[in-house]
Amino acid sequence: MIIAHTIEDVRTRVKQARAEGKRIGFVPTMGYLHDGHLSLVEISKQQSDFQVMSIFVNRIQFNDKKDFESYPREHERDFALAKSAGVHLMFLPEEEEMYCNQHTFVEMESLTEHLCGATRPGHFRGVCTVVSKLFNIVQPDVAVFGRKDIQQAIIIEKMVKDLNFPLRIIIAPTIREEGGLAMSSRNKHLSPSERIRALSIYRGLLAAKSLIESGNRDVRTIIAAAQSNIESSRPEKIDYIELVSYETLAPINIMNQRAILAIAAFFGTTRLIDNMLIEKNGEHYSCVL
Ligand code: PAJ
Repeated sequence: MIIAHTIEDVRTRVKQARAEGKRIGFVPTMGYLHDGHLSLVEISKQQSDFQVMSIFVNRIQFNDKKDFESYPREHERDFALAKSAGVHLMFLPEEEEMYCNQHTFVEMESLTEHLCGATRPGHFRGVCTVVSKLFNIVQPDVAVFGRKDIQQAIIIEKMVKDLNFPLRIIIAPTIREEGGLAMSSRNKHLSPSERIRALSIYRGLLAAKSLIESGNRDVRTIIAAAQSNIESSRPEKIDYIELVSYETLAPINIMNQRAILAIAAFFGTTRLIDNMLIEKNGEHYSCVL
């Protein structure tokens, strides 16, 4: 695996791979890799020949300075995992390489009013800006994002369409730990007891799934089922439990379309997010965690 620290080096290596007729796959991350990240590489490998990953803890998408500073960073461990997953080129830029007197930012006017857009002001501006830059640096044919961060994935898909990036976005399933907790680099911050309490997010989703799949269409009842599961494990704070349209990411009152049940809650000082996709097949709904 080649480790590139500069934009110029990435461009040279990618150009070379392309000259050899290879299709470029890309998985952007902030590091502290887990099986969720590696599953994205697996999917990328099915669609492309040369795998690029980036690790960059993007300061401008953090609305909490402490969260940025405490974000876990362990490069040697990440390199070993990425290499064994089949990454060919790892881009690990310093902050000055990515942001040098930056005056241009990418801001999306819709899809950002709800969920994490409402609770983390400026977050998606930071995400859209860095992902645009990374797409321009790597120029991949395909890029893979996780459904765990569903709002991010949908926003990136829309941005790619709006700004005519010549690449295809793939949204990959959520990988979970035993017990159902969605894998996340931030799980490292959970104490053993917080980790056990955090399983209530998954239980909340399962309770909602069972209501929906047995024919309940009342959004308030569905949300209440998820909420009572989560509240019983005493989260420090619930940012949101919302059932939103897949198309607009705006809350809906009645189940009548493809939708998402999305949750953000704090256990200790760690903010966790998770969601479930609610697929509509005729009059029947099925939930995918
Ligand atoms: P990060 O949180 O490191 O996640 C990188 C990618 O891994 C994202 O596409 C995310 O959705 C995916 N991912 C995280 N946990 C996952 C899980 N349990 N199962 C499947 N996929 C999972 O998301 C970011 O970084 C940043 O915002 C980034 C896009 C890199 C821009 O800075």
